[in-house]
Amino acid sequence: MTILHIDSSINGDNSASRAISRSILEQLRSTSPQPRVIRRDLVAQPLPHLTMASFNDQEVLEEFLAADTLVIGAPMYNFTLPTQLKAWLDRILVAGKTFHYTADGPEGLASGKRVIVALARGGIYNAGSPAAALEHLESYLRGVFNFIGIEPEFVAADGLNMGTEQREASISQALGQTVRLAA
Ligand SMILES: Cc1cc2nc3c(=O)[nH]c(=O)nc-3n(C[C@H](O)[C@H](O)[C@H](O)COP(=O)(O)O)c2cc1C
Repeated sequence: MTILHIDSSINGDNSASRAISRSILEQLRSTSPQPRVIRRDLVAQPLPHLTMASFNDQEVLEEFLAADTLVIGAPMYNFTLPTQLKAWLDRILVAGKTFHYTADGPEGLASGKRVIVALARGGIYNAGSPAAALEHLESYLRGVFNFIGIEPEFVAADGLNMGTEQREASISQALGQTVRLAA
């Protein structure tokens, strides 16, 4: 099994999404025999913004296509994903490779992969909450992965900027969830 482990938080060792994605990876390692792990830290080694010339560089796309499982750390910045992660998505949403258009509409071509996303959000965006309409991270990632034929799984730590107690409880709840994911 090949696992692609991606992080996009700018918070280094203080990052919740990095801690959760690391925990997901550890769980997967403990249940699958000797997986090959490819690391892509989008902050340590950022991808440039998309240009027409970038379409000739297939390295990121090939790496994605070769992976069976993806573990993605995705913090919420300004109600959506970090631009570092968007630059990565810009390279994997490629017509003819990960989706195509048919007479019946778009069809995903990347099905069969497992995608697990570690979400970290400062606030609370549950359906019905006052800020629900500003949730453009989980909803966007679900839409994008669905578009290419994948149903992503999410492990979320929410309310991380709502006091130390809430932060610790939320991270520890998310780390607990990662154990169930690998089961
Ligand atoms: C630049 C920046 C923008 C942020 N914007 C939001 C936001 O729009 N909504 C929110 O709920 N939290 C926001 N936060 C809080 C983060 O989502 C929270 O700190 C989370 O822990 C980030 O994940 P990380 O610890 O993996 O970096 C923001 C944090 C930063 C640094």
